[in-house]
Amino acid sequence: MKLLAISGSIRAGSYNRALLKAMSELSSSGTTVTVYDGLKDIPIYDPNVADNAIPVAVADLMLKIRASDGVIISTAEYIYGVPGILKNVLDWLVSSDVLILKPVSVSSISTSSLGGVRAHSALILILHTMNASVVVDGSIHVPSVYEKFDENRKLTDELTKQAIKVSLSAIEQAVDIAENQQASA
Ligand SMILES: Cc1cc2nc3c(=O)[nH]c(=O)nc-3n(C[C@H](O)[C@H](O)[C@H](O)COP(=O)(O)O)c2cc1C
Repeated sequence: MKLLAISGSIRAGSYNRALLKAMSELSSSGTTVTVYDGLKDIPIYDPNVADNAIPVAVADLMLKIRASDGVIISTAEYIYGVPGILKNVLDWLVSSDVLILKPVSVSSISTSSLGGVRAHSALILILHTMNASVVVDGSIHVPSVYEKFDENRKLTDELTKQAIKVSLSAIEQAVDIAENQQASA
């Protein structure tokens, strides 16, 4: 099973990226979690661009999503909401069908004690609106990051490791259900 992981932060030393990296390391055999690194190359959404002139970086991401069985998005919280760079890419994707019925789980991670829960909730609403198949029981938010990672951004917290395993198992199940439904349709 192939899962594409998108970090909603492009900050060097991003905890969201570190969380996705930990997911990749903790995934079960048979599941590959690939962290997408191209968010910085996505131009600002422009509704004047015709469908046949989609920028290369956006088209490349669309191909990567199509080639994946499911998507994991981990978001930072900026000013009580989803960071602009992540919302920007979703604005591009909504003009295509790449996320429709695609199993997507949402994580958020923050230095704050709330774990970015406002951005987390907002992102789930956005993805529901885009008709993605949001894996709510696989969606986790991680508060107080400084207590959970070491200085090399390696996850050390056992409870977060358990939560990641539950999250991965939930999206794996959602992918299996979606693929069985498609096969029998
Ligand atoms: C511009 C900006 C706005 C932020 N706003 C919030 C906020 O509203 N709520 C919150 O909990 N954290 C907020 N933060 C903190 C980030 O969510 C937090 O540092 C998070 O760990 C960043 O993710 P990253 O490590 O992947 O870059 C903000 C950070 C920045 C840079």
